[in-house]
Amino acid sequence: MQSDLEKENAAQAAVELVVPGMIIGLGTGSTAACAVHAIGRRVKEGLCVQAVPTSAQTAALAEQYGIPLLSIGAAGTIDLTIDGADEFTESLHLVKGGGGALLKEKIVAVKSRRVVIITDASKRVAALGKFWVPVEVVPDAAAYVMRQLAVPGALRQKDGQPFVTEQGNHIIDADFGLIQDAPELDRWLNNIVGVVEHGLFVGIASSVIMGEGSGVRIFES
Ligand code: 5RP
Repeated sequence: MQSDLEKENAAQAAVELVVPGMIIGLGTGSTAACAVHAIGRRVKEGLCVQAVPTSAQTAALAEQYGIPLLSIGAAGTIDLTIDGADEFTESLHLVKGGGGALLKEKIVAVKSRRVVIITDASKRVAALGKFWVPVEVVPDAAAYVMRQLAVPGALRQKDGQPFVTEQGNHIIDADFGLIQDAPELDRWLNNIVGVVEHGLFVGIASSVIMGEGSGVRIFES
C-alpha cells in the first residue's frame, strides 16, 4: 500500500536523526512502529541508545530488539521523540490518541528537546477536526465531561466495554467540527475538571516528516 511506503520513508528519515548516546522517545501506532523497527535494527548492529516507550505495545516491540528502555519517570530530558499523529496542519498542530496512548505520548513529548512527527500523506489537513479529538477522562467524570464538552461525542469502546487506557482512564472521542482555533480549544479542554489529558498537541511538535509518494516532505516550525 502507498501509505505503508510513505510511513516507512518518513520513519527512515526520522531515524537518521538518531545518534549514539541519545535518549529516544518512542511513540505508539503503526507509523511509530516503523521507527521502532528501524531503531531496533540499528541497535542490533551496535548502536547504543536508550529509549522511553509511550505504551506497553511499543515497549514490547522495542524489547524484541533489545533496545534498552527507561520509564518515563526515570528519564530526564529526552533528546529526540519520534511519534505518529492522526492529523496535522502546517502550523504543526496535531490530533493524536487514536491508539489511546495520548497521555504518555504527551508527557514524553513535553520532556523532549525535539519532537519529530512521522506520517503518511493522508494525515495532512488544512484544519484539524475531521478525526474526533480524544479526551482522556477519569471514569467517574465521563458523563460530566461529556456534558461540558456539549458537542457530539462517544465514549470509546473495546469489546463492548469502555476502552480503558494504561492509566485506568476512559476516552471520549469528541467531534468539534473543523477546529478554527486549536490553541484556544487546547486551553479550554485543559480547564475542564475530570479531563486528564486530550489529543490536541499544540506547540509541541518540532517538525513533521510526511511520506509523500516515494519521498518525504518536511514541515518545520
Ligand atoms: C496513538 C497515536 C498514534 O500516533 C496515532 O493514532 C497514529 O497512528 P498510526 O501511525 O497507526 O496511524 O496517537 O495514541
